Amino acid sequence: MIKDKVAVVTGATRGIGKEVAVKLATNGAKVIGIYARSDKTANEIKDELSEKGHEITFYKGLVNDKEFVRTTIEEVISQYGKIDILVNNAGINRDNFIFQTVEEDWNDVFQTNFGGTYHFCNEVIPYMVEQKSGNIINMVSVSAVNGREAQTNYGCSKGAIVGLTRMLSRIYSPHGLRINAVAPGMIETEMIQHVPDKKLNNFVHHTNTQSLGQAKQVANTVLFLAQDEDSYFTNTVFKLDGGFLR
Ligand SMILES: NC(=O)c1ccc[n+]([C@@H]2O[C@H](COP(=O)([O-])OP(=O)(O)OC[C@H]3O[C@@H](n4cnc5c(N)ncnc54)[C@H](OP(=O)(O)O)[C@@H]3O)[C@@H](O)[C@H]2O)c1
Repeated sequence: MIKDKVAVVTGATRGIGKEVAVKLATNGAKVIGIYARSDKTANEIKDELSEKGHEITFYKGLVNDKEFVRTTIEEVISQYGKIDILVNNAGINRDNFIFQTVEEDWNDVFQTNFGGTYHFCNEVIPYMVEQKSGNIINMVSVSAVNGREAQTNYGCSKGAIVGLTRMLSRIYSPHGLRINAVAPGMIETEMIQHVPDKKLNNFVHHTNTQSLGQAKQVANTVLFLAQDEDSYFTNTVFKLDGGFLR
């Protein structure tokens, strides 16, 4: 049960993060959604959920902006008094092979994906340790687990998050926290809209289910992990990829 749990979800306006935020809110959590630009979508999600009696508050800012993260978490704590669930989902990609990856793309992807996750963990964990409970779910990718040739900066940034997940779990699980990662395969969201059909077909061809994944399926996995009842899961990377083979 996650009723009345306070859940921070980054990247909550589109794709996977939106479905996660909606799933947690409709299951009774008080959700705090973080987003970068999509004001209209944030308002629409808020209106739709509040009409049905569910609770979501949005904060606009960049996950890679340390000061924004610090002040947001301070405000959440002063408003709700606790944070039970943190879903580090916001992410971007600028895909290329290693020798074609330019420094600016390397930095942007690292600062958003790894930097954002790091800043939120840094700010939230002290409160969770004080509470002696907390649940962190970091969104990574099969690229972090399998290594994909044309996703150099993206795969490395997600691999770094896997390292962070494992290290934090070792330190903080004895304090009542559970810290896991979810590694989706190719999920139908705006992030993959620019991926050429040839590449998508190739991905599907090497996937057991012969299909792309859906954001709702990822949200179901996050809900499963977010529920605390008697859970023994921590320090795990959950692959959610329809059986992707390479
Ligand atoms: N789609 C896939 O195939 C796939 C596969 C494996 C892993 N993932 C991971 O799953 C996560 C979500 O992916 P998605 O496909 O749902 O992405 P998406 O559709 O592109 O949505 C990205 C979300 O992150 C927010 N965001 C981006 N940069 C941000 C920043 N600097 N600060 C704050 N918010 C920021 C966006 O906010 P705005 O709407 O305001 O721009 C949006 O809500 C990412 O970490 C991605 O790497 C995706």
